[in-house]
Amino acid sequence: MTQNEAAHRSAGVTMIGLGPMGSALAQAFLTADVPTTVWNRTRSASERMAEAGATVADDLASAVSSARLVITCLRDHEATREVLGSLPGEVFGGRVVVVLASSTPHEARTTQRWADERGIDVLIGAILVPTPVIGTPEALILYSGRRDLLERYRSELEVVAPRSTFVGDDPATASILDTGMLEIFFSGMTAFLHAAALVTSAGHTASSFVPMAIEMLDILPATFLGLAADVDAGEYPGTEENIAMEAAALRHIVDSSVEAGLDARLPRLMHDLATRAVEEGYGADGWSRVVELLRTDPAAPA
Ligand SMILES: NC(=O)c1ccc[n+]([C@@H]2O[C@H](COP(=O)([O-])OP(=O)(O)OC[C@H]3O[C@@H](n4cnc5c(N)ncnc54)[C@H](OP(=O)(O)O)[C@@H]3O)[C@@H](O)[C@H]2O)c1
Repeated sequence: MTQNEAAHRSAGVTMIGLGPMGSALAQAFLTADVPTTVWNRTRSASERMAEAGATVADDLASAVSSARLVITCLRDHEATREVLGSLPGEVFGGRVVVVLASSTPHEARTTQRWADERGIDVLIGAILVPTPVIGTPEALILYSGRRDLLERYRSELEVVAPRSTFVGDDPATASILDTGMLEIFFSGMTAFLHAAALVTSAGHTASSFVPMAIEMLDILPATFLGLAADVDAGEYPGTEENIAMEAAALRHIVDSSVEAGLDARLPRLMHDLATRAVEEGYGADGWSRVVELLRTDPAAPA
């Protein structure tokens, strides 16, 4: 640790928000012997962190005054602005506030503008890992907007997330990338659960299906690279697979789901995309063509 890093660390941090994630962040700082002051709307959570060695601030203003690095981890950006906005702007003088709540791109830009208007130095981040990973070498937090603030406090922020990564000057960038990764996570989990409902309806256990599910996962990295190359090129050649053939396979998932009495909306959504592409004359194109359909909201008013 350099002298500068040591000075920063001895100054400690303030954690505002002690839900599961805020508590994990506070715990990681305490484990690394970083003096940590905490504040939470509901005081019982602060008292639990006191048992782990945190200093409990009497109120929000003294929490913010206790350290130059103030990290908020509240439900969303609206709650964050509400909490920070309850204090006079002067309290934030000489402080950097790191906002680590999930958000939409619009919300992230709103918070950055809100902070700029009040002269508050705010750095916006998006946490991409679950609580048990915080403080481990795999912990990843994306930051965007004020790169200077990340670099000023990098040594502290790397205590909780060694992979603290700057992704762009637009404060919304971390949120956009986080949202994309969340979409892959949730759609993957939901697809697995739908397939699990299907196989268990025929008497198999979900666990016995996992090795086959993982076989499909193994082909996804190369598939993503191929799809991405097509999307970036704006060309969707159907040389190895084509949508007309895939529409038939997707029909099988819909029909099997209906026969098993399952909710068939997930496969039906994919099948609808395929049939729309075929109806629009793209049946000979590859599946990557679907990105063009997804780029317009069919429910949007004309
Ligand atoms: N948990 C995870 O694995 C995970 C992973 C990645 C990202 N995140 C993100 O991290 C953020 C925090 O998540 P979390 O898991 O700790 O749980 P959470 O339920 O999203 O947030 C709980 C925290 O927000 C506070 N809060 C909510 N509304 C508030 C308001 N209006 N005013 C003041 N405080 C308010 C709660 O205070 P009280 O205790 O008083 O209710 C508590 O401190 C979220 O944006 C979440 O999306 C979480």
